[in-house]
Amino acid sequence: MTSKTVLITGASAGIGRALAKEFASQGHDLILVARSVDALRDLAAELATLHGIRAVDIPLDLSTRRSASELELAVKQRDLSVDVLVNNAGLLEAGAFRLADPDALYRMLQLNTQTLTQLTRLFLTPMVERGWGRVLNVASVAAFQPLTGLAAYAATKAYVLSLSEALNEELRGSGVAVTTLCPGLTDTDMAQQANQINPDLPTIPPMLLSSVESVAREGYRACMRGEAVRVPGLANRIGTFWSQVQPRWVVRTLGGLVGRQMLKER
Ligand SMILES: NC(=O)c1ccc[n+]([C@@H]2O[C@H](COP(=O)([O-])OP(=O)(O)OC[C@H]3O[C@@H](n4cnc5c(N)ncnc54)[C@H](OP(=O)(O)O)[C@@H]3O)[C@@H](O)[C@H]2O)c1
Repeated sequence: MTSKTVLITGASAGIGRALAKEFASQGHDLILVARSVDALRDLAAELATLHGIRAVDIPLDLSTRRSASELELAVKQRDLSVDVLVNNAGLLEAGAFRLADPDALYRMLQLNTQTLTQLTRLFLTPMVERGWGRVLNVASVAAFQPLTGLAAYAATKAYVLSLSEALNEELRGSGVAVTTLCPGLTDTDMAQQANQINPDLPTIPPMLLSSVESVAREGYRACMRGEAVRVPGLANRIGTFWSQVQPRWVVRTLGGLVGRQMLKER
């Protein structure tokens, strides 16, 4: 495969950083986006030196109404075009929904759904015109069922899965594919945050956490092959298969039992 230009959001840490390393190791040029100026600049310099690729960093807050158009403009100003868009940046709000900070909820919805949708719309059109492109939208296993304790977060991921599956079908035959990556618990700061809904719970045992490297490897492969949906890891594939073949009320009720226990609200 010839070298492509890959824009990755949320590239300063966690899964996004691992995806940046994976794409760079396969010889692709990078546009790295997140808010942390130093982390992005250092990663771009490191990967450019290590793999002889071009890596550009664009520090930007992607949780505002204008974020997507600002990023599109920043890419145009650098005279770049995007062959592969990776919508990875995400925020998580955990805990009882009625106690959530409304501003934090707004930022999460804006980043996880609005900016992702607008970026997909803005960068997809030129890909279709060129006859080749890939979009990798990072959802979660949380996309497959309602989750008490992570109610709004899981809903944003259900949105991402639904949107991306529909687009993958809409674009069939165009040379452009939209892949949804649905990781389970993965060893990043976000997983630790999700685990802190109830401080009395033990921390997640490492064996239950996927590594960012394995998630990024599966994400890269699925994206370049144009697969519709990829759930990394056998245990996560079994879990998501189970929740899809049960009646919705069973999945909801079981999720509610576990979730209420975590929230200590029985
Ligand atoms: N970890 C898991 O267990 C897990 C499981 C399933 C799905 N996921 C999904 O995987 C994706 C990556 O999660 P992660 O675990 O790698 O999270 P993470 O380690 O917390 O990293 C999040 C990334 O998003 C960026 N980001 C956050 N807010 C942003 C904003 N307002 N504007 C621009 N960039 C922003 C962060 O960079 P800055 O702070 O520098 O902006 C960082 O690079 C998310 O979509 C998440 O929902 C994670």
